[in-house]
Amino acid sequence: MFQDITTLLLDPKAFKDTIDLFVERYKGKNISVVAGVEARGFIFGPPIALAIGAKFVPLRKPRKLPGQVISEEYILEYGRDCLEMHVGAVEPGERALVVDDLIATGGTLCAAMNLLECVGAEVVECACLIELPELKGRGRLKGKPLYVLVEYQ
Ligand code: PRP
Repeated sequence: MFQDITTLLLDPKAFKDTIDLFVERYKGKNISVVAGVEARGFIFGPPIALAIGAKFVPLRKPRKLPGQVISEEYILEYGRDCLEMHVGAVEPGERALVVDDLIATGGTLCAAMNLLECVGAEVVECACLIELPELKGRGRLKGKPLYVLVEYQ
């Protein structure tokens, strides 16, 4: 069952209200990096980053970023995938928020966190619009907090 966020984007008020919920939570928290996971983390991450005065760092699928990258593989329901981040995009000690549209098994967010921690950043929290709690992805986030707006059973 695919949870589609594109209809939310068709409603400017609902889209803005969604972004504002995240901004209210993260402004003033000394977060300097918002890392967005390809592809739908690229929709929600940048407006949050701009509003809280943080930089936006895209975590991309393999062979998309032009510069030198670090990579992290992860397991999907069927097969494997990989996320990459530009070397030098995040400095040691930076406080990072990871943004995606949805957490299912948690493998994607876990890989994203590993990339950030690999360069010495501190992951403050992961933020998603949607959680599928039956898949227990929250338990794969190494004890880091996860903030979600909606749970689908
Ligand atoms: C979806 C979703 C998350 C991920 C969550 O992306 O947007 O990024 O799955 O699944 P997980 O918690 O089980 O890892 P998808 O892998 O479909 O990639 P896409 O955004 O590039 O379509």
